[in-house]
Amino acid sequence: MAIRLGDEAPNFTAETTEGSIDFHQWLGDSWGVLFSHPADYTPVCTTELGTVAKLKDDFDRRGVKVIGLSVDVVDDHKGWINDINETQNTTVNFPLIADPDKTVANLYDMIHPNALNNLTVRSVFVIAPDKTVKLTLTYPASTGRNFDELLRVIDSLQLTANFSVATPANWQDGDDCIVVPAVSDEEAKDKFPKGFTAIKPYLRVTPQPNK
Ligand code: BEZ
Repeated sequence: MAIRLGDEAPNFTAETTEGSIDFHQWLGDSWGVLFSHPADYTPVCTTELGTVAKLKDDFDRRGVKVIGLSVDVVDDHKGWINDINETQNTTVNFPLIADPDKTVANLYDMIHPNALNNLTVRSVFVIAPDKTVKLTLTYPASTGRNFDELLRVIDSLQLTANFSVATPANWQDGDDCIVVPAVSDEEAKDKFPKGFTAIKPYLRVTPQPNK
């Protein structure tokens, strides 16, 4: 069964490169990113995990814990991490789940047999502190992900969780935001002390409220 936005992220226990975890306990009160890659010792995945390691401070600043997954075993993960550290000039600083029996992969519908047989595709789940799923992404094996885009989406998710705004196309942290339709003009005057501009009655923009 596919996991939809707003669903509770299924809990599981698993072996990782940093020991056994209960996923919900490991998340604690943090935001979380659970992402899968097809296999250890593969080129695109090597660049992806190196990129995520280099973004550790950016995830930390946003209060986000990151965890990777493939259907390989812990020893393979650990051997491959040495290669990632060497070739990507970084230190992998987040756990990798070992899922050789595909328990977590199946729980999160990460195996898409018509695209890639028996291996996980490039799935991403962003999970809020209340354990609900806020974003899902699915990329094919042949396309490495843009993790700057993932940070951009997390900025939007965290902002819109706290203010009655939405973020427009290509929004970046600091840009103007959209006043959500559920807020009347009268309410908007109170909620957005910096003011708002009504370009159309349904298209109202306001400076980012938390800047
Ligand atoms: C890769 O990470 O390079 C990769 C993995 C599985 C299939 C194709 C590419």
